Amino acid sequence: MDTNKRPETMQRITTFELANAFIEEQVKAVREQVGDKKVLLALSGGVDSSVVAALLIKAIGKQLYCVHVNHGLMRKGESEAVVDIFGKTLDANLIYIDATDRFLDLLAGVAEPERKRKIIGKEFIEVFADEARKLEDVTFLAQGTIYPDILESVKQAEGKKAVKSHHNVGGLPEDLKFELVEPVKLLFKDEVRVVGEALGLPHAMVYRQPFPGPGLGVRCLGAITRDRLHALREADAILRDEFDKNGLAEKVWQYFVIIPDMKSVGVKDDSRYEGWPAIIRAVNTKDAMTATVEEIPYAVLHKIVARITNEVEGINRVLYDLTPKPTGTIEWE
Ligand code: XMP
Repeated sequence: MDTNKRPETMQRITTFELANAFIEEQVKAVREQVGDKKVLLALSGGVDSSVVAALLIKAIGKQLYCVHVNHGLMRKGESEAVVDIFGKTLDANLIYIDATDRFLDLLAGVAEPERKRKIIGKEFIEVFADEARKLEDVTFLAQGTIYPDILESVKQAEGKKAVKSHHNVGGLPEDLKFELVEPVKLLFKDEVRVVGEALGLPHAMVYRQPFPGPGLGVRCLGAITRDRLHALREADAILRDEFDKNGLAEKVWQYFVIIPDMKSVGVKDDSRYEGWPAIIRAVNTKDAMTATVEEIPYAVLHKIVARITNEVEGINRVLYDLTPKPTGTIEWE
């Protein structure tokens, strides 16, 4: 039997009842697979790895070692939320690595988007592998693979061309050999979310908007600098806050801020004020292959402009990108 193929008879998980049955079944399967051995998991804080972590904590508790690598390109409050939920509330074995300097030093002066992606992906593996080598006797690697990932690899194996290299994590180095534990690999995203809520994860984490692996790195356009990255993180937090307060977070699939590597002339306190523009992107899509732009009420836009320009050092304008995909991709890099 091909264990990577979803059986046609498999029921779609739409209710807590179905989710609980799935959880029970997977807890049993994981315990059988793993026995008393140790399992390692790269916990990004995204929906898939978080749900796998919660499921494995339920199944094997402290036999699971979660490694959270903060590459310095996370959104405001994100790594803190991982530490809070998994380290504190769920009392997991959580290894938190602040690798900000490692990543930002390597990225200094690198402007080409695909090179940035490659550097981030490769360094991520290295930081994770360093931690994996420190832990002894780990037999298994858990992954938040979901069914669309499997379908996507099938497509790629058939030679379909990609616009960007979205693959965040390549293979681990040769000396690290693990058996895989992939408890949600036959589930679609909406099912993973139902399972996550049934496991008691916070709604905000489970319904989090998609966030690319290279994080804010592909939204701080061109060569990343710490001051522009800081401005981006703050402006993005304001945008998310206003979307939450105005009921847009539930309506819009993905919304974020981009800051290009350019300045324009502005005025502040009667003086010339050269600053970066913050660009807002807010799109709806079914499969990320095409996307439409959300109509944000003018009053909300004005509030966002006022808050970003007043509260964020270095920004003097806010623009709204009205381009659908195609021709614009969702991210700018
Ligand atoms: P684009 O920009 O290609 O984005 O229209 C489509 C979706 O993919 C996300 N994206 C990425 N996700 N690694 C990821 O994990 C990446 O390098 C990457 N680049 C884009 C993007 O946020 C959107 O949801």
